[in-house]
Amino acid sequence: MPAILAIESSCDETSASVCVDGAILSNVIANQTIHEAYGGVVPELASRVHQQNIVPAVQQALLNAKVSKNDIDAVAFTRGPGLLGSLLVGVSFAKAFALAKQLPLIEVNHMQAHILAHFIAEKKPSFPFICLTVSGGHTQIVLVKDYFDMEVIGQTLDDAAGEAMDKTSKILGLPYPGGPLIDKNARNGNPDAYKFPEPQIPGFDFSFSGLKTSILYFIRDNVAANPNFIQENMNDICASVEKRIATILINKLKKAAYEYGIKDVALAGGVSANTGLRNLLTETGAQNGWNVFIPKFEYCTDNAAMIAIAGYHKYLKGEFIGQDVAPLARMPF
Ligand code: KG4
Ligand code: ZN
Repeated sequence: MPAILAIESSCDETSASVCVDGAILSNVIANQTIHEAYGGVVPELASRVHQQNIVPAVQQALLNAKVSKNDIDAVAFTRGPGLLGSLLVGVSFAKAFALAKQLPLIEVNHMQAHILAHFIAEKKPSFPFICLTVSGGHTQIVLVKDYFDMEVIGQTLDDAAGEAMDKTSKILGLPYPGGPLIDKNARNGNPDAYKFPEPQIPGFDFSFSGLKTSILYFIRDNVAANPNFIQENMNDICASVEKRIATILINKLKKAAYEYGIKDVALAGGVSANTGLRNLLTETGAQNGWNVFIPKFEYCTDNAAMIAIAGYHKYLKGEFIGQDVAPLARMPF
């Protein structure tokens, strides 16, 4: 019955979770609003806010789970990938807690954890499955052969899908992070109002930089003709951009599932909170006879519950790491 305390601090969410015997008992997420004014995450500020939030987040996670810090058996933490200064706060906290309590440490890869979040739910995918992982920093199609045996079979050659959402919202004058606002506006818009190009990239890779440029020129030309173009057409623009990003992602996913002959298909990462993407995946899954796995909203964006479930499976394998561990800004599978 291992009780695991998990810490996530790779970007701008400070999160702590307690998991007992594979069941998530708490998942506390402290969001950082300080970055809104800057139109993106400011790494130095993120580290400072993590520093302020980490102890209260852990205390709250223990309290919500009704687990005493004396009953924790291991500490799992995000080692990378992410912002180095942000990771340092979580890694240092995890090491200090483990040292004080004489506990083993478990390192977790953030991108693997997004995928392993599917093992929190009762309905779990079977190996091998394919996962489309879409976040602010990554866009990957991953062949998941086992808990920690994953192969990236496709990825973005430039911007990530979340970055494409966030950059579009910036062009539209919306605050950061733009993805959720594009989603909200798109719900009242016509997704077929405007057509944006679909890049022709071979294999399972993606590219979003051309799309970003075409959106930029489209807005610039229309605003030159009508200064109120954005305000008058905001919902239609958001719906059309969202549809294009979702179709680019799902078309590649379809190709991968078909070529690998896989029917269990999952979605993960912050952009998996997007309504248009979730709906298109559900629809495509029904047409192709897939078993579709879409995480609950609280497990889509960054959270420590996914670190806890990944940590639990590493605990079962007896995979621990020493106190000399350091964070990794880049951390391949
Ligand atoms: O996984 P995540 O929380 O952090 C990273 O590891 O990057 O992903 C954050 C990304 C941001 O780009 C954000 O705009 C996007 O996920 N996002 C969304 C939605 N919610 C978050 N994009 C579209 N629709 C949403 N509802
Ligand atoms: Zn993430």
